[in-house]
Order: sequence, then structure tokens, then C-alpha cells
Amino acid sequence: MLGGPGSGKGTLCSDLVRDHGFVHLSAGELLRAERDSGSPQGDLINSTILSGKIVPVDITANLLLTAMKNLGWTQKTFLIDGFPRNYDNCEGFERILGPFVNMPFMIFLECTKETMIKRISKRASESTTLRNDDNDQVLIKRFDTFHAETMPVIEKYEKEGKVQYIDANRSAPEVTQTVVNILKEHKYIQ
Ligand code: ADP
Ligand code: C5P
Ligand code: MG
Repeated sequence: MLGGPGSGKGTLCSDLVRDHGFVHLSAGELLRAERDSGSPQGDLINSTILSGKIVPVDITANLLLTAMKNLGWTQKTFLIDGFPRNYDNCEGFERILGPFVNMPFMIFLECTKETMIKRISKRASESTTLRNDDNDQVLIKRFDTFHAETMPVIEKYEKEGKVQYIDANRSAPEVTQTVVNILKEHKYIQ
């Protein structure tokens, strides 16, 4: 799942987990958990997050690999949220996860900047999901990174015919239903 900051990736994945039993892995959440665990990589992860940039892929891909293994990954279908997010992520995806993982398609949540800003403001006001990058200063940099680094990833997978474009400006139930229909078409949901 890709989409700009606040486009609704996490919300969509939670709905799909709740209703259809997928396993959700958010690259951003794995990075925040690694940072908060006191890992030696914590400072690098935190400074990268605060600069709105993308963490070197060896860290992120290995966190995903470990999480999948710990969850007992054989035969499971994972919703991978926020990865691969730039060309470095794509290279590491192939190198580190490629031998084990098949990515049939990418769901891209298309959303206006105005909507994303509104949603991030709402998230920032919810104390349960407090993040040190949900502020105006970092958000500007996250949008820059999204346009400069993530959009080329969408174009790369588009050329391979793997992108499913979703209008994510709609309500969460509408977005989820559209994606459920796609997953049904691909036989990931009966
Ligand atoms: P992302 O993971 O893409 O950054 P989230 O799923 O965390 O985005 O959503 C950001 C905020 O927007 C959250 O507060 C969430 O409740 C809200 N939200 C997500 N999807 C929608 C939607 N389709 N309509 C309205 N609000 C939404
Ligand atoms: O997806 P999420 O909004 O949780 O990502 C938060 C931050 O985590 C990103 O802005 C980026 O700094 C970092 N991240 C990353 N590489 C990824 C996913 C997230 O560096 N593949
Ligand atoms: Mg998220």
C-alpha cells in the first residue's frame, strides 16, 4: 500500500485485518518500534524520520523480514504498508525480501494534499497516536519526499502493470469496499 502522508493507508489496512484476517505490516510503525526499543539504529531512524526522508533499506527490509518470520509467514498474505517508498527501498525489496516474497500488485491511495493535511491534523490531535513527525515543519518535508521519491516508485510499478489506483478522498468505508472488491477479483478474499 502506498499513498501520501495521511492518505489512509493504516486505516484501510486495519479495516482489512478486522474483516478479512490479513496481517498488516507498516514499515513506518516497524521503524518507530525499532527506534523506541533502544536499538543502536535508533538515532539514525529518528533523525531520518524528523527530516522526512527515507531510512536506508537494509534496516527497513530486515525489520519486515524479521516481522514476517516471527509471524510464521508461510502461506500468509501480508498487507505491506509504506514500502517500497523510494528506489533504494525497491532495490532492497528485491535483494532482501525478493527470495521469499511475491508482490502481486500495489494499491495506491490517491488523495489531494488538502485532504491529507486535514487528516494529519486530526491524527496529530489524537493523543493515542502522537508522532514526532506529525507537525507542519516535518510534514512539508514528507510531502517533498513523497513527490520526489515515492511517485517514481508508482511509475516503476505502473510500467509493470501492477498499480491499482484508488480514490482515497472518499470515506474510509468506501475506500475499504473498493479495495475489498479488488482483493476479491484477485482471489485474496472469497
Ligand atoms: P496513513 O497511514 O496513510 O498516514 P492513516 O490511516 O493513519 O494514514 O490516517 C490518517 C488520519 O486520517 C487518521 O486520523 C484516520 O483516522 C483518518 N482517516 C483515514 N482514512 C480516512 C478516510 N477515508 N476518511 C476520513 N478520515 C480518514
Ligand atoms: O508510513 P509512515 O507515515 O508511518 O512513515 C513515517 C516515516 O517513517 C516516513 O516519513 C519515513 O521517514 C519513515 N519511513 C521510511 N521508510 C519506509 C517507511 C517509512 O523511512 N519504507
Ligand atoms: Mg500509517
